[in-house]
Amino acid sequence: MSAVIIRPEEAGDETAIRLLLVNAFGGETEAKLVDELRSAGDIVLSLVAERDGEIRGHILFSRLWVRSNGQSFPAVALAPLAAHPGHQREGIGSALVEDAHTRLHAAGEKLSIVLGEPAYYSRFGYRAERAAGFESTYQGDYLQALAWDDAAPTTGKLDYAPAFADLG
Ligand SMILES: CC(C)(COP(=O)(O)OP(=O)(O)OC[C@H]1O[C@@H](n2cnc3c(N)ncnc32)[C@H](O)[C@@H]1OP(=O)(O)O)[C@@H](O)C(=O)NCCC(=O)NCCS
Repeated sequence: MSAVIIRPEEAGDETAIRLLLVNAFGGETEAKLVDELRSAGDIVLSLVAERDGEIRGHILFSRLWVRSNGQSFPAVALAPLAAHPGHQREGIGSALVEDAHTRLHAAGEKLSIVLGEPAYYSRFGYRAERAAGFESTYQGDYLQALAWDDAAPTTGKLDYAPAFADLG
């Protein structure tokens, strides 16, 4: 088995990413979300994990704005994250999150938000407590935040990319 290569999504990867997402989530919702984010130009970072010439994992971060007192702070939203069902628990999801975080931090991003299983995302530093002050339709134990900068806001309204509104 060859090493996992993590690299940015390239033109021509769209179909393989779509197939991976449909397989991992058992439906079209996340694949459609990615298609819409891509066509709207709302993607901040999209990485794939490749092994043996196949795309076996994918992670995406889109632009999310924290609105407060007429000001807007740029954050990123992690969604979706997927590893191929036949290749889960091989470290692919973790490698994608960690590589993405390194790139985002290096690019100057200060705040990341995720809606997901705390038992999984806490291992990467996401905390529900850090997100508890935000106003969001997703507010609750599954909404978690990770800040790379103390200056990142702890309150404000989370304004996701329009593609999320179609999720219902
Ligand atoms: C969640 C997912 C991305 C994890 O990817 P992965 O490559 O299998 O994960 P890794 O190999 O990096 O990590 C495996 C570890 O995470 C744990 N884990 C995986 N999914 C988990 C979940 N939903 N809740 C809690 N822990 C989870 C495993 O138990 C394992 O723990 P261990 O290291 O103690 O054995 C993958 O299972 C997946 O694609 N699931 C379907 C799509 C999905 O639910 N995506 C997340 C949306 S928020």
